[in-house]
Amino acid sequence: MNGMLGNDLGCSMKPLLEALRGGTPWPPPVWLMRQAGRYLPEYRALRTKAQSFIHFCLTPELAIEATLQPIRRFPLDAAILFADILLVPHALGQEVAFVANEGPKLVPIRDAAALARLSTASFAETLAPVMETIKGVRAELPDDVALIGFAGAPWTVATYMIEGEGGSDFENIRGVAYREPGFFAALLDRLVEATSAYLILQGDGGAEALQLFDSWAGVVPASLFESAVIAPTARIVGAVRAAHPEIPIIGFPRGAGSHLKTYVEQTGVDAVGIDFMTSLARVRNEVPESVALQGNLDPVLLRDGGAAMANETRGILASMHGHPFIFNLGHGVLQTTPPEHVAELLNLVQGARK
Ligand code: CP3
Repeated sequence: MNGMLGNDLGCSMKPLLEALRGGTPWPPPVWLMRQAGRYLPEYRALRTKAQSFIHFCLTPELAIEATLQPIRRFPLDAAILFADILLVPHALGQEVAFVANEGPKLVPIRDAAALARLSTASFAETLAPVMETIKGVRAELPDDVALIGFAGAPWTVATYMIEGEGGSDFENIRGVAYREPGFFAALLDRLVEATSAYLILQGDGGAEALQLFDSWAGVVPASLFESAVIAPTARIVGAVRAAHPEIPIIGFPRGAGSHLKTYVEQTGVDAVGIDFMTSLARVRNEVPESVALQGNLDPVLLRDGGAAMANETRGILASMHGHPFIFNLGHGVLQTTPPEHVAELLNLVQGARK
């Protein structure tokens, strides 16, 4: 991962992978977090074919189609596997349900006895359809479009496992993390192992890059950031890299703020996703030249489109020219986004001057 892998290899390598390996293709490759989903009418139609969201994710025929829908519509540089971060607790035997208009609901795990009931006995079997999805998508993707696999990082998955839902104040997980460090460490250990195995399987299936979503890294108490975010992420990066040294890993510690530099230095990720609260130009000066940055347009600007989106997009592009860079949002596409605005954004990014 150094400057020798420069622009000249671009013609033979997918632009996304070139940037992840430290190259500086320009205009930069672009994909969008949550680029598949309810803002697309064709997704809403497909979604009605499955009884539950988990069933949808674990039915290759449906998940392949959902992964490909944004690729058929827009000239994106990557597809992201259609799945969910909560498939891991589901595959470990925790009860997970997605309630319409309310989000995920889980039967919470808050003590050692509940943790002991989780099991890896049917983990690989439950998640096997995801590998079929990956293979099916790879077979249909255009030659220059890369497939990204993903998982939730342990802290973020643990927030759902302990709180039992999204949108909480995280008081249960913070309380447990301080009060019962042994239990909390044991839960994170389980997640490090399960997540590493899951990502390795995705690599076996043909995922070409892997992203770890740490969507709730911004609510970790400062004194726990090392043990709850950095160390578990570093262990997963180490395990996945040992099995698949060729697959680049993107970390997305949303809200990491002042911890971002340490996160990059100590986890060993190849690239880091930047949220919209953080200045890309500043991070660029803090991280090694070889670490690709990904981000960080505010999804609200994509929802609204027009001059504000164009101005901000030009500013992002200007600040990242010459550094390994992947254009993305600073968080996922909002459900209220008109699909035409995505086309408008891709025009702006892909028309960027060389
Ligand atoms: O296009 C893609 O990005 C691929 C698929 C994908 C989904 N979820 C599909 C999904 C990805 C990468 C995710 C990641 C995910 N899931 C995260 C991390 C990213 C982030 O947004 O911070 C998190 C925190 C989850 C957990 C989750 N899944 C929540 C909180 C919800 C409910 C809220 C919501 O956005 O709907 C989900 C459900 C979910 N995951 C949907 C989709 C398309 C909507 C469910 C439906 O269609 O009925």
